Amino acid sequence: MTLLARPQPLTAATPVQDRFGRVKRKLRVSLTDRCNFRCPYCMPEAPEFMERADRLTRLELQRVLRLFVSELGVTRLRLTGGEPLLRRDLEAVIEECGELRALGLERISLTTNAALLARRADAIKRAGLDDLNISLDALTPATFAKLSGGRGVQPVLAGIRAARDAGLSLKLNTVVIRGMNEDEILPLTRWAMREQVSLRFIEFMPLDGRGEWSRERVVTQAEILAQLQAEFAVEALPRGNDPAAYYRIGSDAEIGVIATVSNPFCASCDRLRITADGSLYPCLFSQRGTSLRELMRSGADDAALAASIRNTVWHKDAGYVAHPGYVERPIAMNSLGG
Ligand code: GTP
Ligand code: 5AD
Ligand code: SF4
Repeated sequence: MTLLARPQPLTAATPVQDRFGRVKRKLRVSLTDRCNFRCPYCMPEAPEFMERADRLTRLELQRVLRLFVSELGVTRLRLTGGEPLLRRDLEAVIEECGELRALGLERISLTTNAALLARRADAIKRAGLDDLNISLDALTPATFAKLSGGRGVQPVLAGIRAARDAGLSLKLNTVVIRGMNEDEILPLTRWAMREQVSLRFIEFMPLDGRGEWSRERVVTQAEILAQLQAEFAVEALPRGNDPAAYYRIGSDAEIGVIATVSNPFCASCDRLRITADGSLYPCLFSQRGTSLRELMRSGADDAALAASIRNTVWHKDAGYVAHPGYVERPIAMNSLGG
């Protein structure tokens, strides 16, 4: 990949971008690092969760989000975790995000494990959520349990149905790990086709909380496609701005593959992330964050906050392509929201 440095834009109205000219439109907002699951590809064995006092207050969160939308050109928010449904005030957070539509916000999305979704799907739809992505790594209960830290698949399936009934559009995410769930690829595909729900397979990324990642455990895009081709006609579709490459399967189904390891898409990355305690991580693979919370709590005004964000984003690294292989990072996926 060739990434050419461009001059940093100076006007406040310019959308925030990095030194490689990648404009940022999507902000992933982790609302908590806690989770009711213990997926081995994400959570450390013995996680140390952040103190509540360290988490951004709702006022601080709204101040930051307002700035990203009104001054920095972000048009899409994705609420993540840990597990965002552990926040009892999730509906209120979504409603407050809705106020930013008048300033240019186009979409409010959620990524969840869906175990607690069934009884809140209607409420989050009413609060103004546009769509959600749901993790589903297996249909076989024993395999699902291994990949979630002992949880059952039925509540998740009930959550998926409830979301659909509530009129929320949704995509399913399956992280594939060799030796654990590569034999779920075809059953999940058949199930998704029957249920007419969009499904994406995700290559295992080297950011797991347990240091168990290795190249051998990554089931690559090519291997996933080979399994699909053994049963279906598979046709590549034009690439969009989603991290997934999409394929038509059979006559009317679509399956996506997110191939960070074997086929990184960093050159077109339009995302940023903040943790629940307000650290800005410009890349999933960033080694450290910039604490917007500390700036706010030390009295920075919006201009200073925006300048710090622009500066951090400007110095964003090229991405996974800059350090392929195992990535040491002080925080695990559950703190960064994927
Ligand atoms: P939309 O594109 O808005 O649908 O969201 P998404 O697919 O990015 O969100 P989701 O939370 O469902 O994440 C799906 C997978 O993509 C997870 O494994 C994320 O870690 C991964 N992912 C999300 N953003 C990035 C990114 O910028 N780079 C890489 N390498 N992976 C990402
Ligand atoms: N590799 C790939 N995807 C991951 N996720 C969490 N950890 C990893 C990893 N190590 C995914 C979850 C969820 C999304 C937010 O990130 O499955 O769908
Ligand atoms: Fe929880 Fe999601 Fe991490 Fe699994 S991937 S432990 S559901 S935050």
